[in-house]
Amino acid sequence: MLQNSTFIVIEVNKLKEGSILAEDIGVYDSLKAGTILTTSLIKTIQSINGIDLVKIRSFENDFEQEEAAKKVNGDKKHYKQKISDMEEKNLDHADSISNKIDKMLARRKVTIENVKEVGEDKNINFDSFDNNEKGEAVKILNSIETAMTQIEEIESKPKISKEPLLNKMIKKVKDVDDTFLGLINARQSAVKNLENIVSSFIDETGPNMDSSILLKDILMQPEKYLANHSMNVSIICVSTAIELTKIMTNKLNDPSIQKDFHLLKIIKNKTFNRQEIIKLGFAAFVHDIYFKKIYPDMSSDYKLTSLTDQSNVEKHASESYHLMKQFEMDYHVNKAVLQHHESIDGSGFPDGVTERMFSKYTAILSFAERYITLTHPNPFNSTLHPTTAMKKLLTVERNKFDTDILLAFTRSATMVPIGSWVLMENGYIGYSTNRIEGSNLPIIRAVMKSTGEKLGTFENKNPTEPGNRIDKLLQHKDLFLLNKDYQKYVCY
Ligand SMILES: [Fe+2]
Ligand SMILES: [Fe+2]
Repeated sequence: MLQNSTFIVIEVNKLKEGSILAEDIGVYDSLKAGTILTTSLIKTIQSINGIDLVKIRSFENDFEQEEAAKKVNGDKKHYKQKISDMEEKNLDHADSISNKIDKMLARRKVTIENVKEVGEDKNINFDSFDNNEKGEAVKILNSIETAMTQIEEIESKPKISKEPLLNKMIKKVKDVDDTFLGLINARQSAVKNLENIVSSFIDETGPNMDSSILLKDILMQPEKYLANHSMNVSIICVSTAIELTKIMTNKLNDPSIQKDFHLLKIIKNKTFNRQEIIKLGFAAFVHDIYFKKIYPDMSSDYKLTSLTDQSNVEKHASESYHLMKQFEMDYHVNKAVLQHHESIDGSGFPDGVTERMFSKYTAILSFAERYITLTHPNPFNSTLHPTTAMKKLLTVERNKFDTDILLAFTRSATMVPIGSWVLMENGYIGYSTNRIEGSNLPIIRAVMKSTGEKLGTFENKNPTEPGNRIDKLLQHKDLFLLNKDYQKYVCY
């Protein structure tokens, strides 16, 4: 059993009532660190996909153990017996888990004893820290390392080839659409369903990020516009959060950057562990839920022109927030729903708040929302080529978004975002597929001639090489006129 002074790690199916959570689980307010588990809460945890192990507190003294026991069933002896039974039964299995996790954490664990040494490696200016800040710094450093470990785990999950991945995404859009109805009808079970969907979504898209970004553009389910849109926003949120966490970890480990306590806190706030990525993905899936309530059949060619429509658009963020507020959920997730059209410079709506008032999830969600709305057909505005949209976000709208988030997105999607169509100097038309390490341009897969005629063989071209350079950015309407089947070539 992995044990230190504060927690033990056990399998979810071995949880017993009376255990105290040592970490937040999922988007639920009822599953925060410090919660004493009841039978029904244990069932909830066991039903969440992707959570196999949880950290629970180890009891350092009898008083804590008694208090926990009293709260659960008032029977101290019975409770103590349960705890010892549980520990005995789980010992063997937990030992093997413990070894694995111990190995994983060995190179990462920071303590108050070694924090100075770690600080020297990372150039953290501890002379400017008071004692409380030093203790806080230990927690921050460990939480950042945990987040990075969890991201490595997500990215190391099995790769899925494009066709099965696309089928999973199409099914997910349908499941999300069904869940929307449950949420609108105030069913708490819909929150749990959606959380399961988000958790498996992260395990599928995380290790297949390039393919996910690519395939999101061919999810054409006009009758499920809102679920489709929400899934696209969610893909951008997850890929940006993962890339941002990597950027922040590199910043933390870079000895040429001196860090004070303030900078450490900023780095921590821009670092996302698995649970936080689930919360962010969840917020992305429900951010426009009010539209489902008032326009159940909304499609991308809906025209919202009447005064009532305009009023609905203006209030949709706060109405979506109120709709989600009735559920037992993490407040920060709901706050991000409320703020998904806010900008860091205070120029957004509904409240015009600045970054200082943002939930941890707001800055990424509002960026992802803006990018998807600029690039995908929708009832609100005309669209731009993804590269043109990126340029707009990086110039005219730069003050509205966090610079690190813009950088994270350009790294995860490149300046010709994956799935964008281009005409090359060689006269071929193709779409961007995978990132090229160290370049802000991706590989282009040539699939058609400039006339729209399909090529016999599709070839990957490096756009930084002469002859393959990008000549023109193409939008869907241009491509459709050349060859109405063009999107079928993406899957192969
Ligand atoms: Fe919105
Ligand atoms: Fe939206």
